[in-house]
Amino acid sequence: MASNAKQPRQTESPMLTTLRAEHRHIANIMKLFSGQLQSLELGEPADPVVIYEIMEYMVTWPDRYHHPREDLIYSRAAELNGELAGSLKALQLEHDSMARKGREVLAQVEAWQSGKLDDAALIDSGRAYVQCSYDHMSDEEEVVFPLIEASLTAQDWRELAADNQLRPVSDPLFGPRVQRRYRNVARKLRRNIHRRVEQGAMTEWLAVEALMESLEVLSMAQDSAYAVTSNHLRAAWDDSRDIIRQTPLSAPLRCAANNTRQTFHWMGEVLEITRDTIDDLGRVSRERRERIKLLKERG
Ligand SMILES: [Fe+2]
Ligand SMILES: [Fe+2]
Repeated sequence: MASNAKQPRQTESPMLTTLRAEHRHIANIMKLFSGQLQSLELGEPADPVVIYEIMEYMVTWPDRYHHPREDLIYSRAAELNGELAGSLKALQLEHDSMARKGREVLAQVEAWQSGKLDDAALIDSGRAYVQCSYDHMSDEEEVVFPLIEASLTAQDWRELAADNQLRPVSDPLFGPRVQRRYRNVARKLRRNIHRRVEQGAMTEWLAVEALMESLEVLSMAQDSAYAVTSNHLRAAWDDSRDIIRQTPLSAPLRCAANNTRQTFHWMGEVLEITRDTIDDLGRVSRERRERIKLLKERG
């Protein structure tokens, strides 16, 4: 009565589910990039800082943590199912070429920011990069992931899960805490709304949107200041404990000196956050003014 036929797994492996979730993040950021490129093409305001952060993120996170984890899974799947080896190797080669293209586009963004590259060249290479990312993820999700799922057993997945290199790494943009260097792109992702309404309502809407974006700037600055303060308090506490343990007699003086040094360091970081916040608020306000001016010119 019992059948020896391999039963399909009812649920997807958590690793593939995690990779799919990361694809959704990459797709969101590529959509934001496309929107910025479209603004450039239409002569509307685009944010050079956001464009830079997008490409800096792509070469930093997906190229260093998403694709290498896929490479490990693909290598294992190719060992277990030789028929898959060809398509898996092709995807691994694409990871290399995408990393190369990502670095090239980032260099072009920097050249564009300093006026050495025109808008059209950045739009062309940026769009080619976005398309390549979409095509690659689509091949993985629609063709390769289901084949891998069908080839690997629960035991294979358990062995892969034991590999430290395959543990998910906290994402600096989509993870629980946004790193400050990605704060502008994070803000735009939260407020990425396409607006096509009539001009009167649009002017009011731009004011509301700028206000909401300014609130995001302040909220993210508050988060950063809180994180910096917590880190410093923890470091000061740890240092004091070590000092008391090592040199109990001179501990009060050494602790006081160390705390003063830590406080200056903390003040420096908070000052930097404040400066960034003022810059960001200025940029939000400037963008609102440019959009309103554009509306009037086109009205
Ligand atoms: Fe991939
Ligand atoms: Fe992928």
